[in-house]
Amino acid sequence: MEVHLSSSSLAFVTWSSSSTSRRRVRQDACNVSRRRILGCVLSAGLGLRIDTVKNRPLLAAEYDRYAAEYDALEESVFADGFGLKDLREFVTKRADGEVLELAVGTGLNIGYYDASRVESFMGVDISEEMLKIASARGSSLGTKASFQIEDASRLSFKSSSFDTIVDTYSFCTFYDPQAVITELRRVCKPTGKLVLVEHVRSDNRILGVYQNVTNAAVKTMSKGCAWNQNIPQLLENEGFQISFQKRFLAGTVIAVVARPRLDTQST
Ligand SMILES: C[S@@+](CC[C@H](N)C(=O)[O-])C[C@H]1O[C@@H](n2cnc3c(N)ncnc32)[C@H](O)[C@@H]1O
Repeated sequence: MEVHLSSSSLAFVTWSSSSTSRRRVRQDACNVSRRRILGCVLSAGLGLRIDTVKNRPLLAAEYDRYAAEYDALEESVFADGFGLKDLREFVTKRADGEVLELAVGTGLNIGYYDASRVESFMGVDISEEMLKIASARGSSLGTKASFQIEDASRLSFKSSSFDTIVDTYSFCTFYDPQAVITELRRVCKPTGKLVLVEHVRSDNRILGVYQNVTNAAVKTMSKGCAWNQNIPQLLENEGFQISFQKRFLAGTVIAVVARPRLDTQST
């Protein structure tokens, strides 16, 4: 399957603040919004940060509160318009063997897996409420599916446990993406692979600068989403070799397949 997306359809999903969360933002300068809005993020803003270790429980709590609303976006016209579903297919059709889905959220990828190629499926997330919805979806994978709460930057799994590690739209929310990739390198089998679809800084220089300038505002409005990361670079720094990459939405979303570089050791 080829994924086709129009670069002119660049738009981003953000969530607006409710009065409650606005109060918390004032108190803690790290909180994000509760109610969903859609729109282009075209304004730079003052930065509120959510990416420190001490704020991690707040992120989990935020997604706990948000879980019941999360799937609304997927059911909207935007999911097709931006090719979200095609990209979910892109990652899941490459999954086989013992599969880890990182930050599985409400399990929106689960229905796309080819169950005959998946030996076992482990879905992890930091938010219990997101996971509850994911586990209800897990029935399409039958008894192969398990779910557990995990912080992606300190996974409890043994080294070299998984053949395929899947992640969609989550790296931007991790408070320590570098630590997460170190963990992925550790739990990925030497013959395994990582299949990601992520928000990244565009390879269009002007857009990339715009993303840098607006990053703090976007983070504030979209549950800590950092949309200007260089994920391929982070992967290469941590001992992965990129075997496939393709950009979408004016270069701001990337699909990546990466494999452990065997001349590097996992830690
Ligand atoms: C934008 S949602 C994406 C969910 C899902 N991957 C999808 O494609 O719909 C981000 C998810 O990352 C999870 N998350 C954020 N930080 C995490 C961490 N450190 N460890 C595990 N999950 C985390 C959130 O709870 C949330 O479910």
